[in-house]
This record gives sequence, structure tokens and C-alpha cells, in this order.
Amino acid sequence: MTSSVYEIIIKKKRGFELAREEIEYIVNGYVSGEIPDYQMSALLMAICFNSLSAEETACLTLAMAHSGDMLDLSPLGFCVDKHSTGGVGDKITLIAAPIAAACGARVPKMSGRGLGHTGGTIDKLESIPEFSTELSYDDFIRIVNETGFAIAGQTANLVPADKKIYALRDCTGTVDSIPLICSSIMSKKLASGANGIVLDVKFGSGAFMKTPEEAEKLAKAMVEVGKLAGRRVSAILTDMNAPHGRAIGNSLEVIEAIQTLKGSGPADLEELSIAVAAEMLCVAGRGSEKKCFKLAEKALKSGMALDTFRRMIELQGGNPRVIDDTSLLPCAAYEEEVLSDKGGVIDEMDCEKLGLLSLELGAGRKTKDDPIDHAAGILMLKTLGDSVAVGEPVAVLYSSRPGIDMRAAADKLRAALTIISNGKNKNVNNILKIIKGIDI
Ligand code: URA
Repeated sequence: MTSSVYEIIIKKKRGFELAREEIEYIVNGYVSGEIPDYQMSALLMAICFNSLSAEETACLTLAMAHSGDMLDLSPLGFCVDKHSTGGVGDKITLIAAPIAAACGARVPKMSGRGLGHTGGTIDKLESIPEFSTELSYDDFIRIVNETGFAIAGQTANLVPADKKIYALRDCTGTVDSIPLICSSIMSKKLASGANGIVLDVKFGSGAFMKTPEEAEKLAKAMVEVGKLAGRRVSAILTDMNAPHGRAIGNSLEVIEAIQTLKGSGPADLEELSIAVAAEMLCVAGRGSEKKCFKLAEKALKSGMALDTFRRMIELQGGNPRVIDDTSLLPCAAYEEEVLSDKGGVIDEMDCEKLGLLSLELGAGRKTKDDPIDHAAGILMLKTLGDSVAVGEPVAVLYSSRPGIDMRAAADKLRAALTIISNGKNKNVNNILKIIKGIDI
């Protein structure tokens, strides 16, 4: 006989392991409305304090994944997906996906919108005039067949359990639990149907996981769940103590992605994008790490990845001329150069503050129905470890919001930077380690 919700809450509160039937009963009961928010909140809080074992996390993830549509990608053969746990200025998908596709991988990608201080791939792509992220199943498959990749928004019925549980976690202080984050992310990845998954797990001031240790725990939990579900999974731990590249905000990030695909982007962004694309190729069984790295590098340098990106834009209804003329992307009404009030070396960047500032300038939403300004955001002229003189420009802010106080916004940007006078220029190591769930 299945335990009651009350008994299940008490069991977890006392630190005991829940059975698969109990977890399925909770997920199905909560999605159907039979289990009320107050009981689910109590259970989520008990999970925050007493955690879940690897088996419980896998059961929760699978129950959530099966709560709605499971995408059938079998017409495409072996498919590989990538997922970032969320960062600031994170446009890696826009570069790594066309690189992997240009090397022959199949990348049918379902992406999300911005969440909290972090940006979302769908919002970035929608800054391209006429670009559509709402694709029918048939169009999605056709475009991947033709270009190797397509990027669409999540369908309405993809993991309804996560939509409901995430909204509850957001307002009950239960977001920061590794098994809950793991099941939220991996349920969506499993339901999206790819056979291989590369997880970009970020740590640092702009990430949900603030320390490398927490990020590693999350990465290992996600790789384990992926393995138990029969998928080929790898996780890359990446540093989010500085934005990736220099641009934060939708059209600014598309421009930077195009520059990187043309070979003239920031070095850190190019390095990370090649590493993620190479890992996607490894997971897709294209050979050794060294070979996949060389393939990815060649696809970028030869312009093949840029051509793949151009074709994908065209097939998704967007104007492919943005590749050659980025002035076709939206432009902000106001611009403010931010001058440094200190001299020295940038020793720390509070990326969460930078993400929130970009959101305030109009690049993100405070509530889910807020419209966004695709041209708004921040272009950093200096980054972590750079020297800066008093009065030197460190960033440019962009916004079209009527009445926006750009000077106050400039003060907020300065407050996000720690500049020390006796600091040394430092090299930032973007990739901490790769955790493989497969033998390559
Ligand atoms: N991203 C998600 O999709 N879920 C979480 O719980 C955290 C980040």
C-alpha cells in the first residue's frame, strides 16, 4: 500500500530514503492537483535539509520527465544536446551548436528564456528580425536534417512537473538543493530526447552554484542520473566569475557570437565554445578528445560553422543578412559610457549584479510576461584581471527604457567591480575540469 503524503513528508524529515512508488505518487499527485502546495512545500524543504540519494534523485528525475511529452528524435539518429546551468553573457550555445553541427553532429536543441539574473538562448535568438523559435515537430526535424541543428523553445507540455515544482521552489526558498536542481534540469534534458548530453556546469559570482565544490557535486549528480537513464553524458565545470566574452544582453550577445564564428571574438569565448563543441563531438562518438578538438577548431576557422549558423537562421525564418550586417539587429535608444573611478587591476566582478543590471536596463524580465528590450545590455570594455586607469572607460550601457537613469546604472556597474591598486594582471582559467559519464 502506498504511504500517505503525510507519512512521506515525515519519512523524509527523519532522513529516510523514499521508495520509487512514493516519489512517483508525489510527482503525479502534485501535477494532477491532488497534492496541495503546502504539503509539496513541506516535502521540498525536507529534501533541502536531508537531501536525496542517487537512486531517489534518478526516480524523481524520471517521474518528472514522464509527466508530459517525451520528444521522439529517432528520425534523426544519434542526437546530442548541450545545457548550461545558467550564466551571464553565456552565448556558448550560439557558437558551439553550429560548430558541432558543421562537424556532422545532430543538435536538436530546446532552449529556455532568461531565468533570474541569467539570460536565455531563446531571448537572444529572438533579437534576430523574423526569427521563429516556435517550430512544429516536423519543421524541427526537417531543419536539423538540413543544417545539423535547430533551436526551439520548449513545448508547452514538456515536463509540466518541473514548471509547477520550480514555481513553488522559487517562492518557498527551496531552489538551492542539488538533487532538486539536478532533477529539474535533467528531467527537461531527458524529455527533450537527445541520446548524448553535454552539461556546462558553472560556478562563481554569476552562477547558481557559487563554489567549484558545489558545481562539481551538481555535475556528478547530473552525470549519474543521465547514466542511469541510459544517456551518454559529460559535464564541463566552467568559471562564471567573469561574463563569457564581453557582451551581456540579447542582440549584443548575438553580435558577439557572430564575431566569434568569424574568428574575431574574445579569446575566452572562442576557447570555451570550442571545448563545449569538442565535448559534444566526443559524446556523439566522433573520436578521441584530441581529434574532436581539432575537428571543432577547423569548423570554426574554416567558416563552416558560420555558414551553418547562417543557414539555420534562414530556415527558422530569420534574416540571414544579419551575419554580414549586424546593424540589422535592434539598436538601443540610449547609450552611456561608464568611466572607472579607480585605477588598478579588476580583481573581482560580481556577475550576478551585472546580470541584474542588464535586466534592469531592459534585457530580461522581472515577471514572466514582461516584454524585453532586445537591444538592452552591457558591453564590458574591461574584464577580470585587466588593468584600468582612473577615468578610463570600463563598459558601455545600452537601454531604450523611457526615463531610465543611466547615471545611476553606471554607478551600479562600478559597484559590481572590485579594483585593487596593487593587483597583478591575472590569467583566468575558464575550464576547471571535465567529468565524463562515458568511456571515450
Ligand atoms: N535551472 C533549472 O532548469 N532548474 C533549476 O532548478 C536551476 C536552474
